[in-house]
Amino acid sequence: MGYMDDFYKNVEQVGVVPVVVLDRVEDAVPLGKALAEGGLPAAEVTFRTAAAADSIHAIAQECPDVLVGAGTVLNEAQAKRAVDAGARYIVSPGYDMGVVRWCLAHEVPVIPAGVTPTEVTALVNEGIEVTKFFPAAQYGGLATIRALASVFVGHRFMPTGGVNAENLKDYLADPAIIACGGTWMCKPAMIRAGEFGRICELSREAAAIVRG
Ligand code: 3PG
Repeated sequence: MGYMDDFYKNVEQVGVVPVVVLDRVEDAVPLGKALAEGGLPAAEVTFRTAAAADSIHAIAQECPDVLVGAGTVLNEAQAKRAVDAGARYIVSPGYDMGVVRWCLAHEVPVIPAGVTPTEVTALVNEGIEVTKFFPAAQYGGLATIRALASVFVGHRFMPTGGVNAENLKDYLADPAIIACGGTWMCKPAMIRAGEFGRICELSREAAAIVRG
């Protein structure tokens, strides 16, 4: 699956996928630019707000260097809307096999999530090689990921939930972790307050940790 391998390479290269919650479409492009300028050219725009699809469209149009995708995708209708809007990948907090199969059938990269061996097994058996691990902190963080990785040999994880500038280095040092996700560099309150300079600065700090 070449398209999936290319996507995984891009995700590994960026190292941190900012998880974005946008209330206002007009914040989408300044946010995309701030993340990219800070060295994190990616955005997982969550389908938790009404502005998600239009925000993805705006970032896809105006920030072509940003790897823009949709997060919190719970059903096929959202996956289709996201891809129509310009999402280059789909991320879910858990998994819906209908979403996973729709993405694979349409060659849309997808990162579904699982925290138990049974969930990871179900996804591995669909051909998925990377799963989100959410909420990472509450489900045992790195220790749980290491235990899963010892069984699912070659499988890799993208932890989100409680990842931050303090623990990012430890997560990324583990070969089972392809990249981390999180909101710490672009908290919804920062976006609402228009603090794009601060977002750029926090992104720069995270990107420096990725580069080691
Ligand atoms: C997600 O969707 O992955 C989480 O909201 C990110 O969790 P965080 O806010 O703890 O970074």
